Amino acid sequence: MAHQYAQIAFTPSVRQVQNEQNSRSGYASMDNGEDYNFMLSQEESNFIQQRDSFYMASVSETDWPYVQHRGGPKGFLKIIDAQTLGFSDYSGNRQYISTGNFRTNDKVSLILMDYANRRRLKILGHISQVAADDWNTQVALEDDHYRARVERAFVIKITAFDWNCPQHITSRYSEDQLASLISPLQEEIKSLKEKLNQQSTTVSVDSDTNTLSDSKAEAKNEVRGEVKYEVKGESKDKHKDENISDDKFSLKITGIRQLTKDIRAYQLSNSTGEPLPAITAGAHLQVPVTINDSLSTHLKNKQGNQKTVWRSYSILNAQSDHNSPNAYYEIAVKRIDEGKGGSIALHQQYQLGLSLQCKPPQNFFALNESEKEAHTVLIAAGIGITPIIPMALTLLEKAQPFELHFAARSKSEMIYVDELSELLGNRLHLYPSNTGKKLSIDSLLSTQISRPTNSQMPPTQYYFCGPNEMLNDFVKGAKAAAIADEQIHYEQFAASPNSSAQAVQLTLTKSNKTIAVASDQSLLDALLDEGVEVPHSCKSGRCKSCVVQVSSDAEIAHLDSCLSETERASGKMCLCVSRPQSSGLYIEL
Ligand code: FES
Repeated sequence: MAHQYAQIAFTPSVRQVQNEQNSRSGYASMDNGEDYNFMLSQEESNFIQQRDSFYMASVSETDWPYVQHRGGPKGFLKIIDAQTLGFSDYSGNRQYISTGNFRTNDKVSLILMDYANRRRLKILGHISQVAADDWNTQVALEDDHYRARVERAFVIKITAFDWNCPQHITSRYSEDQLASLISPLQEEIKSLKEKLNQQSTTVSVDSDTNTLSDSKAEAKNEVRGEVKYEVKGESKDKHKDENISDDKFSLKITGIRQLTKDIRAYQLSNSTGEPLPAITAGAHLQVPVTINDSLSTHLKNKQGNQKTVWRSYSILNAQSDHNSPNAYYEIAVKRIDEGKGGSIALHQQYQLGLSLQCKPPQNFFALNESEKEAHTVLIAAGIGITPIIPMALTLLEKAQPFELHFAARSKSEMIYVDELSELLGNRLHLYPSNTGKKLSIDSLLSTQISRPTNSQMPPTQYYFCGPNEMLNDFVKGAKAAAIADEQIHYEQFAASPNSSAQAVQLTLTKSNKTIAVASDQSLLDALLDEGVEVPHSCKSGRCKSCVVQVSSDAEIAHLDSCLSETERASGKMCLCVSRPQSSGLYIEL
């Protein structure tokens, strides 16, 4: 028995195709255990209550399926109990095909769509028309404020249901959803118009015609929604590489979805409408965000009150075929209230239609292509799942052996967990810690190394992405288990400000300069702010561009994911994420 939808839908011929297409093993676990997916949980109930339409299939006496659209006010498909639904059938066309079909065959199949969030729920059941004299049920299924004539009512006894993956669902928005997405933009337009009017008045007094034309042009650009992020209040030549108009990678936000209470997915398409370059699993995109100095104390002494910063986010929809261009790039951004302000600003600023000058994608966390046949262990915690998802999908598509271990505080904080469960089957292991199921890195690694292996097989490859504490456990555990450095690959979250971090006096031994670094500022940013040329790229400890040699024997808190232990021991450090444990540091610059 087990998964009720699979028991009905996975007929022998369906299973045969699954075998032919190598997807059967992913579904095998659905055949085991107690019956499930026939009683609505809170998640399905909430989803159904938000829908204002569904597609409904009946079967005719000529054996043809007949699909019809049903609509009404939001929540018109009512939940009578965990196994029963009901709805009022409003007057519409006069063919009565579904109603007629149900008289001879009571099997019904529904698909409920949530286009904005790219989710769908499929339900199978037995349907019956509510008796004409059953007034209680008919009244219970009516919607008081909906002005349409009810012709009849139906009740559905649920036999099974299933969620489906979001592939190929295009995001669409209702008028209400669009209104909530564009209302912040409308507010911004209103305030920009007010500012523009004020500036016009000031200029007519000052006769500062140059200022007027510049301000108007800038404001007009913003009114069109094509906001160009620029470093405000600072000379542009100080941040030559941050002048985003230098990078012609213009993307437009064409989709937004709320994945969890604090994680949003953004779909970014080419502003020209052309496909985007193909990227591989593990690649990230750098996007600009304007942050306010109230969120970053070290900027308070600077002229102006806003600054553009770059943030890196893994691209979720990498292609396993490296030659296939991407229709869009999708990133997921978690709002971190205690962070540096970038994610908060991004959630506030990134709205549908906004144009961004991004930096082309880079990949410092790619799958090891030289170990094609190796067993792969993917480990992710929280939002660290974002580079791991495309890795899992790439390995799945290439039919390579792998397993994915995904930990988070609760299942509701795990993005794309339903889709992953469906696609990966028993390759996926979930650890929602609120249920008491905690991921122990040590026991995971010891299970792996004690797994019987074939001497012909290349060594297991491990990929990790998650918070720094777990990364430390992973690196220490791998070392204790004698797993070679070449087998472990990791990417950590961008360093978040550490409340105990202290200001640093940075001495450049070659140029004989001293620079003050604020406690919430990276060493790299402090150097760039002072006009010191330092090569850099990812700003998240992944690319090795900003590595310097430390002159003193200061103790360094290394937060990069690119330096080896030998390099660290020899005094190398990444200026973008790492800092000394003390208040002074000498570097060879
Ligand atoms: S800029 Fe990439 S490691 Fe520092």
